[in-house]
Amino acid sequence: MPAANAGSTVRVSMDVGLEPTVAFDVLVEGLVTALGRGGLGFEPGATGHVDENGREVGRVVSWIPGERIALQWRPADWAPEELTEVEVKFERVDGGTRLVLEQRGWGRLIGDANELTGWFAGEVAAPLLRATAPQAVGEWLTDRRARRPSGAQARATYRDPLYHYPNFRVILAELALTPGDFLIEVGCGGGALLNEALRSGCRAAAVDHSGEMVELALAVNRDAVREGRLEILQASAERLPFPDATFTCAAMTGVLGFLADPVAALREIRRVLGPGGRFVALGTDPELRGTPAAPEPMASRLRFYDSDDLERLGHEAGFDSVTVVRHSLEEHAREVGVPEEYLALFGGPGARFLLARKR
Ligand SMILES: C[S@@+](CC[C@H](N)C(=O)[O-])C[C@H]1O[C@@H](n2cnc3c(N)ncnc32)[C@H](O)[C@@H]1O
Repeated sequence: MPAANAGSTVRVSMDVGLEPTVAFDVLVEGLVTALGRGGLGFEPGATGHVDENGREVGRVVSWIPGERIALQWRPADWAPEELTEVEVKFERVDGGTRLVLEQRGWGRLIGDANELTGWFAGEVAAPLLRATAPQAVGEWLTDRRARRPSGAQARATYRDPLYHYPNFRVILAELALTPGDFLIEVGCGGGALLNEALRSGCRAAAVDHSGEMVELALAVNRDAVREGRLEILQASAERLPFPDATFTCAAMTGVLGFLADPVAALREIRRVLGPGGRFVALGTDPELRGTPAAPEPMASRLRFYDSDDLERLGHEAGFDSVTVVRHSLEEHAREVGVPEEYLALFGGPGARFLLARKR
């Protein structure tokens, strides 16, 4: 006989190597973003709430940073008196924090144990297994770290991307910017290259499809934005929100390998360049596959281009003069302070750069 379930508890937990207060902040930020993507608005804080379609479905009843969040939760709108309690606890354990999420009083609505087990399989266990299967983990990590960066770790990395400064130096040398230039950067990340480029006195604009990177790049280049020398928009490389022939030059670094349709993106760049406009892009060298510069699961999601491939892309996009140059980045890496054990990654025959010009 299936038993009734007067109040089952769903419990999920994970140990992480973070201080409870840090884990608390990271979890709250992640929840706000992820619930928002799924159509639930989460206003954090002691008087916070969760809304679905403009209607409150959860209310914060306890908010102790680093220790506990409790919500009164409404699992169905056809049973207004039906409320459950959701609690997130941050328990200090050896080496970090145990995150525990519990939903108590769950099961009354469903009642039947077979049904409840079916709900658990389909709505809790299967999504967890799907999320932790190789494909989903690979996509998540690739997006989170590089393809569409998000989260505190990505913000710290792209605010000051030590390992990218060597290629920035080559790009800036090739562009030879002057105060008369108007530069566009596609996929600007945290805006570190823009910051260096603007020292030439040029004006600039940039796009990135990660909202968090746009915010970070705006903060990193606050002064130039205030002075009206820089505009940064959330947009895709394949559709630049600028009129034809707006810019004198363009740069793209760390982006090419992620583009599903690189020719479309290069055509867009050519479109927004004026006559004589020049373009410099860092390639994605096949030799980097599987190294710390392009590790799995990123490597199997990146497109790698040898010199002929790069040249072909430039021509197919309609550029009038196209060349590929290789520059060793080792000396630049040493100068910017890349640790000794990683210098070898920047040596060898040199990284490929696509140089193109519009007549
Ligand atoms: C590896 S990061 C490099 C960031 C920056 N250029 C640097 O070198 O530090 C790649 C960046 O390109 C952006 N990006 C990737 N594909 C894009 C696309 N199709 N349109 C706009 N931005 C894109 C990502 O959001 C990310 O910020």
